[in-house]
Amino acid sequence: MKTIVVASQKGGSGKTTLAAHLAVTIERGGGGPAVLFDLDPQATLSGWWNQRQAETPACAAAASLTALPDKLAELAEAGFAWAVIDTPPAIGATNRLAIAVADLVVIPTRASPHDLNALGSTLEIVHAESKPFVFVLNSAKPGTAIATQAAALLSEHGPVCPALIGDRVMYASSMSDGRSIAELDPTGKGATELDELFEFVKSRFPEFKKVKVKQYA
Ligand SMILES: Nc1ncnc2c1ncn2[C@@H]1O[C@H](COP(=O)(O)OP(=O)(O)OP(=O)(O)O)[C@@H](O)[C@H]1O
Ligand SMILES: [Mg+2]
Repeated sequence: MKTIVVASQKGGSGKTTLAAHLAVTIERGGGGPAVLFDLDPQATLSGWWNQRQAETPACAAAASLTALPDKLAELAEAGFAWAVIDTPPAIGATNRLAIAVADLVVIPTRASPHDLNALGSTLEIVHAESKPFVFVLNSAKPGTAIATQAAALLSEHGPVCPALIGDRVMYASSMSDGRSIAELDPTGKGATELDELFEFVKSRFPEFKKVKVKQYA
């Protein structure tokens, strides 16, 4: 099982939105089963999941923070392929523990200088734990100078998902009714962006790297 931890100290950067959407994208693309964890006391992700009609992705909870590694091991044993963990907008024990169990940390950020400046403390923990990570520009407007500059700046610090997650009002409605925007509009650009995000996430794991096959005449 691969464990993705969505983390950023910055409030409102899109952690919960991306955690929910990533897990649904995994399931829709046949890469599941996926299981979500909501480590944020705000419980936004759990609220979304409780509204959800579909059976998948699953949502689990550990009895305590220190029980998280054992719970993940149990779910791996049960056959889950991916765990996606949402974290609070803080730097504290919860985030440190979550990052410590990550196979990959996904750091969403908006493109504003204010948001970019706030990434330092999250990166410090990720580096201290020697964890692989990626940046995802969220709520962005592709082709704008601010998005292009933000992507360039982020790329000096680590890998940036080539697909920007667009600023779409549908995200708000999807989060209030337990669905993903790909379920509301399966052929929309937003669904494509999420598929590209998952492809990029997968590409960070050597076992998913595309290997060119030899062609025989
Ligand atoms: N790509 C997007 N387009 C439009 N709205 C978005 C997008 N991503 C997130 N939002 C909206 O921004 C707000 C914050 O998103 P979200 O709750 O996912 O952030 P968060 O990082 O989890 O916040 P917190 O730090 O409080 O946990 C929500 O209202 C959400 O609907
Ligand atoms: Mg959140």
